[in-house]
Amino acid sequence: MDNRDTTPSLSKAPNPEYDHLSNDELQELLDPALLPRHIAIIMDGNGRWAELRGLPRISGHTEGIKSVREMTALCLELGIPNLTIYAFSQENWKRPAHEINALMLLLERFLQSELDELVERGIRFRAIGRIDSLPASALKWVRKVERETAQRDKLTLTVALSYGGRSEIVDAVRRLAADCQAGAVSPTQIDEPFLEKYLSTQGLPDPDLLIRTSGEARISNFLLWQLAYTEMYFTPTLWPDFRRREGLLALLDYQRRERRFGRLPNPSYPQ
Ligand code: FPP
Repeated sequence: MDNRDTTPSLSKAPNPEYDHLSNDELQELLDPALLPRHIAIIMDGNGRWAELRGLPRISGHTEGIKSVREMTALCLELGIPNLTIYAFSQENWKRPAHEINALMLLLERFLQSELDELVERGIRFRAIGRIDSLPASALKWVRKVERETAQRDKLTLTVALSYGGRSEIVDAVRRLAADCQAGAVSPTQIDEPFLEKYLSTQGLPDPDLLIRTSGEARISNFLLWQLAYTEMYFTPTLWPDFRRREGLLALLDYQRRERRFGRLPNPSYPQ
């Protein structure tokens, strides 16, 4: 089947190197041994996607959920075990109330409608951020879906909600300080792996790849600790247009990177 992507789009990045290839052909170019274990995504550009079409902003968010589904399916299919998405930042509380309410409703509906499928497909749902600040009914669904998918192990889908990287570190340090004060921890025990246990991402490997859509090249307070050695992929494509094909292109780009973690290139320069 010719599955070249012919979706009309106002925002997709041209990619002359791969434009003639179908999605299946792109997928064949991937080296299964070099896939990331954890992808993190800043899903940006929903509002612009809607505005470009003369639609209300919320329809960009609704369409963005389809991209979440496609990336989840791609990770499952390729055996990438962790996907973390930035769905609502602490700064997003400053948006107009109607947009916040619509986003919370979308989240709740997403959780209600996907729960069975998450369980069936082996997806564990996890939320990070100051979750207690969510409206009661959204919070109830977040906790329910977390509980009911807790034993699934094919993919961990972590959704950052009311999340900020700095406050995550502050919260971790507060709990750590309390444990020190209580005598349960000695300051000399504290090193990087020890501190990591206090972060909300405890148990997840650090992201190998960060994708940010919509042409912005910022971290925006996302996973500040965890992104220390992550490869960054910035694309002008708006999030609702970031579908399977865009995901494959990001992975192909990632596979061309040489990850050095501060070491010399391989083969190494003469010492
Ligand atoms: C950024 O686009 C996107 C968000 C603030 C929300 C992302 C939310 C979703 C994709 C849907 C909810 C997700 C789940 C898992 C239910 P923007 O509004 O900042 O776009 P703009 O920069 O073009 O204005």
